[in-house]
Amino acid sequence: MRLRDVEPTDLDAYVRMRCDPVMMAELGGPQTPERVAHQLERDVETVQDDSAWIKMILSPDGERVAGTVTLYSHEGMSEIGWMVLPEFQGRGLAGEAVRAVLGLARADGRWGPIHAFPSRTNAASNAICRSAGFTLAGAEETAFAGSIFPTNHWILDPSDLHA
Ligand SMILES: CC(C)(COP(=O)(O)OP(=O)(O)OC[C@H]1O[C@@H](n2cnc3c(N)ncnc32)[C@H](O)[C@@H]1OP(=O)(O)O)[C@@H](O)C(=O)NCCC(=O)NCCS
Repeated sequence: MRLRDVEPTDLDAYVRMRCDPVMMAELGGPQTPERVAHQLERDVETVQDDSAWIKMILSPDGERVAGTVTLYSHEGMSEIGWMVLPEFQGRGLAGEAVRAVLGLARADGRWGPIHAFPSRTNAASNAICRSAGFTLAGAEETAFAGSIFPTNHWILDPSDLHA
């Protein structure tokens, strides 16, 4: 598994992740290709000004995009999210990528406590939170794209991670 910053050429991977009803079932539903293209432009700018981390997860051979991990700050809170494309799921890639980004966050030191809000029914994402060292803070309702989802609220302070 390798990570790299998002690039303008990632449109195909963005569309496969965000326009897919299954991938987006617990993330507010599929988005339009136009909205996704605009999001990619904004994400590339965000990476250029280093205000958030938008990392692409590469396949083990480094040839293809397998997914994404994002870490960004909004309203004073740092939030992490992740997705892995269907053909790469179930191989530990998401867990490995999330732990790698948390390690980078620990070294960087700017993020403070990091929050994650996986859907309560997303067994794999809740397992990732647990095994990465997050603490379950409680259950909440989270708004995604105009819909309300039952989510778990997990928190981890990267400075608590071992080097
Ligand atoms: C959720 C998702 C990121 C998982 O990616 P993945 O690469 O298949 O996950 P991993 O192989 O790293 O598995 C992560 C953990 O979940 C566990 N797991 C995987 N599938 C599981 C399942 N169906 N039920 C229970 N646990 C499961 C793994 O054993 C692993 O546990 P561990 O960390 O304790 O070892 C991926 O399925 C996805 O992108 N789904 C659609 C988008 C989405 O839901 N994003 C997350 C929103 S919060």
